[in-house]
Amino acid sequence: STSEPLKVMISGAPASGKGTQCELIVNKFGLVHISTGDILRAEVSAGTDIGKKAKEFMNAGRLVPDEIVTDMVTARLSREDVKQKGWLLDGYPRSFAQAESLEKLKIRPDVYVVLDVPDEILIDRCIGRRLDPVTGKIYHIKNFPPETEEIKARLITRPDDTEEKVKSRLEIYKLNAEAIFSTYSNIMKKIDGSRQKEVVFGDIYSLLSEVQNDKVKRIKSE
Ligand code: AP5
Repeated sequence: STSEPLKVMISGAPASGKGTQCELIVNKFGLVHISTGDILRAEVSAGTDIGKKAKEFMNAGRLVPDEIVTDMVTARLSREDVKQKGWLLDGYPRSFAQAESLEKLKIRPDVYVVLDVPDEILIDRCIGRRLDPVTGKIYHIKNFPPETEEIKARLITRPDDTEEKVKSRLEIYKLNAEAIFSTYSNIMKKIDGSRQKEVVFGDIYSLLSEVQNDKVKRIKSE
């Protein structure tokens, strides 16, 4: 084919809306969503060796050691579906060392999206967040309440979504962000993530469409 599938990284502070936007991106662009947070949470609930190692770090709102996460991500990126459909990497890289690991493997995105949201909003979004363990859908008690009583009754709260842990996660994010941004500065696009989710997605949709068109043009002219 004339086009190579899109490669996208999405980044932003805890609760900036990465998971919420990824759901919408996958629906429109069919990319393979690779969320290190989701994969780690699945490992924890399945009680695997990785899960056992990761659990204490995650529950404390700290980063899981680089080796564990990097092996997980590179294994997932090498699978066939990713080559066919393209990828959407969410929550990785999260440290300069992680960014360097991908650079060494020559794994680079076409675009690096950053969701920008002020701290006060982030704390409220984390504290109100609920997850549906059956569908994996993300809710918020005020912003996106569940559709039915049945769903409401089974919603769970993440152990790292307390105010204290959110603040620690935010601090760790800020300590790492600039170093990671420097790796992707030439392809970085900041988007105001404090607006309604459909409005935020409108901007992301235009951006990714443009990146995809440019990519097709470039490949045709080669
Ligand atoms: P991870 O799951 O990646 O957590 P995070 O980065 O803190 O991001 P969140 O999942 O909290 O938020 P989000 O941006 O996806 O927001 P969401 O869409 O849910 O990582 C968890 C842990 O795993 C880490 O702390 C670490 O321990 C470990 N880990 C993961 N990756 C790692 C790595 N690479 N290296 C080392 N360790 C790693 O939205 C949040 C809430 O806001 C929801 O309730 C939602 O409904 C609501 N909301 C969303 N958008 C809007 C909007 N526009 N308006 C109003 N409300 C909104």
